Amino acid sequence: MAKIKVKTTFFCQSCGAQYDKWVGKCASCNEWNTIVEEVVSKPNPNDIKATFNTNRTSKPQQLDNIELSDIPRIKLPGTELNRVLGGGLVPGSLILFGGDPGIGKSTLMLQMSLRLKGHKILYVTGEESEQQTKMRADRIGNKNPDCYILTETSTQNIFHHIKELQPEILVIDSIQTLHTTTIDSSPGSISQVRECTSELMRYAKETNTPVFLIGHITKDGHIAGPKILEHMVDVVLQFEGDRNHIYRLLRSIKNRFGSTNELGIYEMHGAGLREVDNPSEILISNKEEQLSGTAIGATMEGNRPLLIEIQALVSSAAYGTPQRSTTGFDGKRLNMLFAVLEKRCGFRLATKDVFLNIAGGLKVNDPSIDLAVISAILSSGEDIYIGSNNCFSAEVGLSGEIRPISRIDQRIMEAEKLGFDKIFISKYNKKGITAANHKIEIIFVSKVEEVFGHLFG
Ligand code: TYD
Ligand code: MG
Repeated sequence: MAKIKVKTTFFCQSCGAQYDKWVGKCASCNEWNTIVEEVVSKPNPNDIKATFNTNRTSKPQQLDNIELSDIPRIKLPGTELNRVLGGGLVPGSLILFGGDPGIGKSTLMLQMSLRLKGHKILYVTGEESEQQTKMRADRIGNKNPDCYILTETSTQNIFHHIKELQPEILVIDSIQTLHTTTIDSSPGSISQVRECTSELMRYAKETNTPVFLIGHITKDGHIAGPKILEHMVDVVLQFEGDRNHIYRLLRSIKNRFGSTNELGIYEMHGAGLREVDNPSEILISNKEEQLSGTAIGATMEGNRPLLIEIQALVSSAAYGTPQRSTTGFDGKRLNMLFAVLEKRCGFRLATKDVFLNIAGGLKVNDPSIDLAVISAILSSGEDIYIGSNNCFSAEVGLSGEIRPISRIDQRIMEAEKLGFDKIFISKYNKKGITAANHKIEIIFVSKVEEVFGHLFG
């Protein structure tokens, strides 16, 4: 009997580059050990024709002659998702929605499907059964006769149901569970994910139907599957947050129809996700108690100013080597700030344990919270309370200088809105303040020592 010959190809799991034989290092993305063999078979030309409109022609045009029709965007329920998408859902757009397992991707998508009124929406799940989805929907507690649930993983079957149902929006949960019969490799493999995505892309563009694809994330925080997935789709959204905290951040990493600076903030509740309109108010805990070791910093998350509480605990090291531990803040940056404190302020930290925590489980990379971090550490070390009416927004340099930061007006306004009386900023930010008549007292400082003169006398 003749041996059945299976066609295999080697793919880089990181960038999707294709090779005829195994190699140790991908020549395209320079990653080591990412090449994996996969079984593929040539797509059947008839299958391709079934979804691919080949007789479409277009001719070159001058930009001036192209008419700009205002794309009517579909308004989704709630303000956060609309804002992050750039003002609503664009028809025919393909949106990749990634995030860690258990962060709430399925919850957000199902909640959107159940709250959207007046548009027929199909939610395809390959991960959970209909009963499980129903249980989740009951928790969320909305009913929508226009929302249809389908448990299916084969794209051919999904397209068959789509033809009958004619949905206006499609949600796929998740792209890694889908498989197409045109390729033999197993679901979740690079070639399957890529082929399924391109089939869904053709569907989205041809029928002008927006498609949401939920995608898994790898250990190091990238969307699983080839990087080219991110190139194929129009929008990449990411859901972030600490699973042990209730806050979730919705960020757009790529958006062909809007800015990527927008940020949505949600809280996970017993009954689904709730939008947070005024995050700063929640992130700052009780102002009444006079505790040392806390300081408020004004940071930016995308386009939104955010006031966050920084908590520090400085205590004598019980064992030989002092411990330095941070949550939500870069440990290396903290060590740098320690060095500045030692050298510039004569503050002895070598024999102290220092713990630093950013309230609410947020991760902050913005250096504008440096001054608040330093203040919290000193406040705890000296056991002196920093008045709850003070906040800080400045970067600290290696020589102890207070450096200016961007968008100072927005931060000052947010601090003012939340009722702070004083904000400490760099004196080099003076020029950048354009809005006149801030009610809040602005204290311009140029050295770390000056700040402590103000705070601790
Ligand atoms: P899920 O949407 O399944 O995450 P993903 O699809 O990103 O893997 O979210 C699961 C978590 O959310 C789970 O740990 C339970 C929690 N959850 C709530 O707290 N309240 C709710 O109403 C729902 C539906 C889920
Ligand atoms: Mg899920």
